[in-house]
Amino acid sequence: MSLDTFLEETRLINTGFCEKQKENISKLFNEANTNIDTFWNNRANNLDWIQTWNKTVEWEKPHAKWFVGGKLNASANCLDSHLENFGSKTAIIWESEKGDSLQLTYNDLHQKVVSFAHQLKHTYNVKKGARVTIYMPMVPELAIAVLACARIGAIHSVVFAGFSAKSLQDRIKDSQSTCLITADGGYRRGKVIPLKDIVSNALANHACPSLENVIIHQYIQANDPLPQFNSTPVHKFICDSIIEPKDDPIETMDSEDPLFILYTSGTTGKPKGIVHSTGGYMTHAKYSSELVFDLKENDIYWCTADVGWITGHSYMIYGPLSNASTIVMFEGTPDYPNQSRFWELIEKHKVSIFYTAPTAIRSFMKWGDEHITKHDLSSLRLLGTVGEPINPEAWMWYHDVIGNKNCPIVDTWWQTETGGIILTTLPSHHPSKPGSAGFALPGLSVEIKNDQNESIINGAGLLSITKPWPSMLRGVWGDEQRFKDTYWSTLETYFAGDGASIDENGYITVIGRIDDVLNVAGHRIGTMEVESALVEHPAVAEAAVVGIPDDIKGQAIVAFTILKEGISESPELISDINSIVSKQIGAIAKPKVIVSTPDLPKTRSGKIMRRLLKQVAEGQEIGDTTTLGNPDIIHEIKEKMALSNV
Ligand code: WTA
Repeated sequence: MSLDTFLEETRLINTGFCEKQKENISKLFNEANTNIDTFWNNRANNLDWIQTWNKTVEWEKPHAKWFVGGKLNASANCLDSHLENFGSKTAIIWESEKGDSLQLTYNDLHQKVVSFAHQLKHTYNVKKGARVTIYMPMVPELAIAVLACARIGAIHSVVFAGFSAKSLQDRIKDSQSTCLITADGGYRRGKVIPLKDIVSNALANHACPSLENVIIHQYIQANDPLPQFNSTPVHKFICDSIIEPKDDPIETMDSEDPLFILYTSGTTGKPKGIVHSTGGYMTHAKYSSELVFDLKENDIYWCTADVGWITGHSYMIYGPLSNASTIVMFEGTPDYPNQSRFWELIEKHKVSIFYTAPTAIRSFMKWGDEHITKHDLSSLRLLGTVGEPINPEAWMWYHDVIGNKNCPIVDTWWQTETGGIILTTLPSHHPSKPGSAGFALPGLSVEIKNDQNESIINGAGLLSITKPWPSMLRGVWGDEQRFKDTYWSTLETYFAGDGASIDENGYITVIGRIDDVLNVAGHRIGTMEVESALVEHPAVAEAAVVGIPDDIKGQAIVAFTILKEGISESPELISDINSIVSKQIGAIAKPKVIVSTPDLPKTRSGKIMRRLLKQVAEGQEIGDTTTLGNPDIIHEIKEKMALSNV
C-alpha cells in the first residue's frame, strides 16, 4: 500500500446519516466552542455519580485531573444504572468458536458480577487499588472479571491471551498484581490453547512473588483437578449463586482513581502500562460510543476486537454497556470453520453496528465476495474501522460489499493512550473521504504540527491533541519520566507518535507511526521489543527490525540478524530464531522474514542505520551511505534479501 493512494484521494462520498449525529452534532460543536468546561460537564452528567464534582478540570501539564472531587463507580454505570429500565434486556450475546450462543441480560450480568466481586473482595482479599491481571480467552467470564474488579475498585490489567508466558510474567511483575484471573485454555481454530501451561511457565520459579491468588475458569475441562502453580493458592472461578452474593456496597471511587492499566508497545523494549482514570475515562467512553456509533435502544452492536486491547475495553465493555446496549462477544476467528463465519454471525444475531479493523477488511476482500453475498446482511446500518489506516480501496469495498452502499462508515482514529475516539468521520456532518479519519469529535482539539510546534493548515506533519481531554492517559505505571519523554517532549502539546496530513477542507488523514513502533494487523509492536526477543536466542549476536508494507496486515516485520561467531545459517536455525519471538512476545510479533547477515549497516560511532535497512527491505533506492563505517555491507544485505522472496 503506497502512501500516495492515501494522499491523492479526493473522492467525497455521502454514505448516509446517523440520527444521533444529525440531531446533535452542530449543537455539540457550538456547546464546545462556547464553553468547553460546560460541554464536558454535560457529558459527565450522563453518568450516574455518587457525589458530584466541584471542578471540571485541573491542568498542570502533563497532569490532568477531571471532575475533581466527583465520586462514581464504572461497573455500576454499566450495570446497576440500567437494572430498573433494562434489567431484562440482553447485555451480552456470546458466540463460542464451536457455534454455541449464550445470552446474558443486564440482570444476569449484574448478578454474576456481584457474586464474583464479592469473592474477590472477601475470599481473596483483593483490596481497592490492588492490581489484578486478567489473562483469559473471549468468554463472558472475561467481561465479568473486568466488571467485578471495577466494582470493588481493583485496578485491572488485561493481558491479551495471545501473549506469551514471558509477556504475561513481565506485566504481572511490572504492575505488582496480587491476583491473576485466568482460564485453563481457550479455543482457536479448533485447537485448544493451553493457557494453564502458559501461566505455569509465567509463574515458574516464583517469578511473580506479588501474586497472592490465582483464580482459574475451568472452561475446557470443568471437572479436572485444579492445576498447581508453585505454592500460589489456586481457586476455581465461580460467578453463579453457588456462593450467595452478599449485597456489598459498591465501592465509591474518586473520579481520578485508576480504573485500569493496559500495557502497550513503545519505542523501548519494555511495554508501558498506560493508566486510565475512572470519571474522565467513563465520560468519554459513554459519550463517544453513543455519538459515533449512533447507539439506539434496539441495536445489536458488534466490535470484533479482543478485550485484551483498548478497543475491547472502551468499545466492547465500558462504552456500549454504559449506554445499555446489546453487545456481541465472539470467541473465534473470521475464517474458522470457514471464511463465512462473520457473516453467518451477523445474519444469525441481526447485528446492526459492526466495528472491525482494516486488516480484517483486507482479508475479507481477498477471500472473495461469495462468502458475503450468500448471507443476509440487511440488519447492518453502520460500519466502523479502527487500528490502522484504511486504504481507500478497502474502504470502498467495505462500503459497497459489506454495507451494500447503504451504511455510513466511521473511520475512528485513537490510541490506548487516548482512552477513546478522537478523530472520526462524522457522516451526518461531512461527506466521507475514503482513507481519511476526518475530524476531531466535538470537545477534542487536534492539530497537525511541524517539529517547531507550529500548526500546519494544509499539509503533513505530526499529529497532536492540543487541549486536555477527560479520557487522556494519566501516566505510565511506575515510570513518570517515560510518560513525560514519550508524549510531552516532542511538541508543547500531546504528541501521538503518528504522522498525519490535513487538507484544505480540514480532513485529517493519519499516515502512520513515525516512531519505532510498527502496526502489524492493527497491533502495536515495538521494533526494540522484537530485537530484544531475537537476541535472547543463543545463536544471535545482534538484531535489527524494520517494518515493510504488507497488503493484508498493513505492515510486516523484517528482521536482520548477525549470528554469533562459528554458527552457520540453516533453515532450521532461522525457523528456531523466529519461534523465539513467539515465545518471548507472542505469535503476533513473528517476523515475516529473517535475513541473516555478517554485519549491519552502522555509522562510524556504531549506531545501526535502520533507515537504510528499511530501504533495502522495501526494495527502494538506497539513500546516503556516506556516514556508514561499512558501506559495502549494503550490497551483501541486498543480495541476501533478494533470496528471501519477500
Ligand atoms: C493507529 C488502537 C489510522 C495509529 C485504538 C495509532 C490508526 C495506533 C487508526 C494506536 C485509524 C488507530 N487510522 N491509524 N483510524 N486507528 N491507528 O494503541 O498509528 O492499539 O497511533 O489503539 O494505531 O494503536 P492502539
